Amino acid sequence: MEKRQLTEFLAPAPLKAISEIHVFSQIDSTNAQAARLVENGLQGAQLIVADCQSAGRGRRGRSWFSPSASGLYLSLVYPFSITTDALQGLSLVTALSIRSAIQNLANENLQLKWPNDLLVGNKKLSGVLLELCNDDKRTWVIFGIGVNYKLSEEQKLAIDRPVIDIQGILTETPSIEWLAGNIVNCLLENIDIFTNSGFATFRTIWNRYDRYYGKDIVVQNGTSARPGRSLGVDESGSLLLLTSEGVQKISGGEIFPSLREKSEVSKQ
Ligand code: BTN
Repeated sequence: MEKRQLTEFLAPAPLKAISEIHVFSQIDSTNAQAARLVENGLQGAQLIVADCQSAGRGRRGRSWFSPSASGLYLSLVYPFSITTDALQGLSLVTALSIRSAIQNLANENLQLKWPNDLLVGNKKLSGVLLELCNDDKRTWVIFGIGVNYKLSEEQKLAIDRPVIDIQGILTETPSIEWLAGNIVNCLLENIDIFTNSGFATFRTIWNRYDRYYGKDIVVQNGTSARPGRSLGVDESGSLLLLTSEGVQKISGGEIFPSLREKSEVSKQ
């Protein structure tokens, strides 16, 4: 990743909002580096990108496969006056921002999987890990973004779920700097909207691109597995699940297609 080229793809507002850009050829995790920056005291928003990560972090304690030149590994650390409750909506907005940055160039329809995965069909293109850090004055949100960029067939097989990459869905593969710059531009624009009006503004558009809207799913959280029909998200970003006991609001967990939906997918 070339810092100068990345800077050229940033729009004027993000360039003004970000006080420093850090580019690493290798690091443990861009999210871990963002947390270290907060511990050491930082003044404004900062962007951290790396060509590869030796200890990339995924959601729910998983690791994120991060070999060199195969993915975009990016963290934006940004100050908020936000409660932990509002964080859920922000993580959904992050996935929507990645979608907005690349959908126009894609040959395929990019869909969202609650809370913050981006899919093409049932293959994962990108994942988001939001983490919070507090200093004396503020809450810093670390927006950790991983996008599969150019994975070899061998690398795809090494990942424990079906994946797709940018080169597989765009007619012309953009540079990694273009990808990073456009995602950051969309994300910062949406952070502004979120700060002023919350998640409610994004609800309709999120539900429009939801892969599982109206579908039978199972929501797994720890040892519990709740079956039901997805009714999309509410104005705070919680998932609405129609179960035999009525509509339940879900704020954490992971979606799996129900067996019925799975057999429909395999017929496609
Ligand atoms: C997921 O499990 O879907 C979330 C993956 C998030 C990976 C990104 S890569 C950049 C940033 N640094 C990390 O260690 N993780 C996030």
